[in-house]
Amino acid sequence: MKFRKSLKILLLLSFCTQFPHLFAYNIDYMQTIINAEDNALKFIEELKGGARGKVSLVQDALGNKFCVKQYKIYDVDNEFGTVRAVLASIVAESLDIPINRVRIIPAHRAFAGKYFEGRVATLHTFVEGSLVKYLKLPYEVSIRLKYKEDMPTNKRGLTYPIIQSMSFHKDLPVIVAFDTFVSNSGRHRKNLFYNKQSDRFCGIDLEQAGRKPFDMNYSQISYYNMKELFQNSQFKLSNREKAALKLFHKTLKELIKKNPPEKFHTILDQLVDQTGFKKKGYFSSGQEIPCNVELYVKRYKIRISQQYASAQKLAAFLDKVL
Ligand SMILES: Nc1ncnc2c1ncn2[C@@H]1O[C@H](COP(=O)(O)OP(=O)(O)O)[C@@H](O)[C@H]1O
Ligand SMILES: [Mg+2]
Repeated sequence: MKFRKSLKILLLLSFCTQFPHLFAYNIDYMQTIINAEDNALKFIEELKGGARGKVSLVQDALGNKFCVKQYKIYDVDNEFGTVRAVLASIVAESLDIPINRVRIIPAHRAFAGKYFEGRVATLHTFVEGSLVKYLKLPYEVSIRLKYKEDMPTNKRGLTYPIIQSMSFHKDLPVIVAFDTFVSNSGRHRKNLFYNKQSDRFCGIDLEQAGRKPFDMNYSQISYYNMKELFQNSQFKLSNREKAALKLFHKTLKELIKKNPPEKFHTILDQLVDQTGFKKKGYFSSGQEIPCNVELYVKRYKIRISQQYASAQKLAAFLDKVL
């Protein structure tokens, strides 16, 4: 059994070396190293800079890099964040969206780079480049979807300034469409990389996807703002901005096509099983936090369906005005 696992790793490694461009997003390889006891991953260093996460850089025998992430604070919402992140990663995989890939490392699994034993963690593809926050780019990249109760509609969700930002690079409308679809409010400049060599952006940090605002989602919020914007007779998009919004729209429609809510219901159950959370009564197999996991998961399934219906409504509106 052990021999077969090692052989599988070797075969995958040789495949990855032959096709290095495919390696970064090789999910099979990630899952294999999570499952294998003898995966030869080594802890390299802690990556600082996140607010809530403990992130380690780890490396395999060939020098391929990954990140291992856990939350500093141990609570239900943070532990379930691992599941939200993998679900969002699966959405990104459906269209090859430039976002790091994420998989669950079960609570009981000893793993290089884990700070808190007995608690769930996530394995991430490593993103090369620099965080946008620390770069001087010739244009303003400000694409975070925001919502506060006291904000005017034109500052919530997809806004005109975000469309302006999106118009500067072809990756940005795609990333904003993804964040809208999975309802992710975390796309600030420390969760977005830019790689000068490849001239590509890539997002990280998906635990916020499908989390806040609790009773709403960003497709719905953006729909209200787009409706208000397009009703204003003074409002006019430049050709470049219009092209960016069209790419946003096209991406949103493709995400809708490839990610119906039913796809995630079974996956969600499987992910919760992988974490090691107990199904009833307690949340984790480590220090136990009381939580009815079944109820938590049931509510999240409803949320996924609501987000999907709102994305359809937003896409249908853009169909009419674009
Ligand atoms: N996949 C990754 N590739 C490269 N660096 C990463 C990756 N994930 C995290 N990091 C580094 O670790 C820091 C914190 O990670 P992040 O996931 O944003 O944690 P937090 O939830 O605390 O904000 C990031 O700012 C980045 O520097
Ligand atoms: Mg972050």
